[in-house]
Amino acid sequence: MRLILLGPPGAGKGTQAQLLMKRYGIPQLSTGDMLRASVKAGTSLGVEVKSIMESGALVPDDLIVRLISDRLCDSDCLNGFILDGFPRTEAQATSLDQMLSDRGISLDCVVSITVDQRALVDRIVGRFTCKSCGIGYHETLNRPRVEGVCDACGGKEFFRRDDDKAETVMARLTAYIQQTAPIIPYYKEKGRFLEVNGMGEIEVVQELIVNDLEGRSK
Ligand code: AP5
Repeated sequence: MRLILLGPPGAGKGTQAQLLMKRYGIPQLSTGDMLRASVKAGTSLGVEVKSIMESGALVPDDLIVRLISDRLCDSDCLNGFILDGFPRTEAQATSLDQMLSDRGISLDCVVSITVDQRALVDRIVGRFTCKSCGIGYHETLNRPRVEGVCDACGGKEFFRRDDDKAETVMARLTAYIQQTAPIIPYYKEKGRFLEVNGMGEIEVVQELIVNDLEGRSK
């Protein structure tokens, strides 16, 4: 299964990708996570993108395309993958087409998650993440079952992202509206496209996606 998850910041792409990854045994390719790992490791890429990410703007296309192109060569992508946060511009979508055609493969579905703008800001400013396994939580909407302990790995340390501040969220939202939303019509015309209402509970949104992917939609 080869999927793209599209949606504004805070729509739930990462949350849904983690669940789909478990269900289908395919990796989540999150460009945001890859970039944050580079920043944390202090690589030259990390140094280059740190301030861009903190401002809420998009990282240059050539850097992102190289990142994904390299990652798609890994053996765990042979049976499929979930692209989370890529592509985000027309140039990235065009490059992805080329990467897929070079490998003789195609996408199974593009899933676009929609959420009310006010909810996006609330979701982002309340988000925190497990330091050891990267699972995301929320102060009020999605707390760990046991206070202070990660449901997935038992980790006890959590962090908040540097770009999860109310003022940066608006810049990220603007980048989405101006640069990413324009690629939606392209994917709508191109092939299987699913628009999902992301305002429901996490499990409900997952069910909508899975039902469609597995041909159980009404
Ligand atoms: P990235 O890391 O991709 O961030 P984003 O797109 O802004 O998306 P988020 O991770 O904030 O949100 P999400 O949709 O994954 O929501 P989540 O599931 O966590 O990118 C960060 C930066 O990196 C960019 O700004 C850019 O600088 C750079 N970058 C990355 N990719 C790039 C690219 N391709 N090109 C150029 N630059 C790039 O959910 C959010 C919260 O809500 C969580 O707390 C969660 O628990 C909660 N939640 C989720 N679903 C629900 C639900 N249904 N109900 C209630 N709560 C929910």
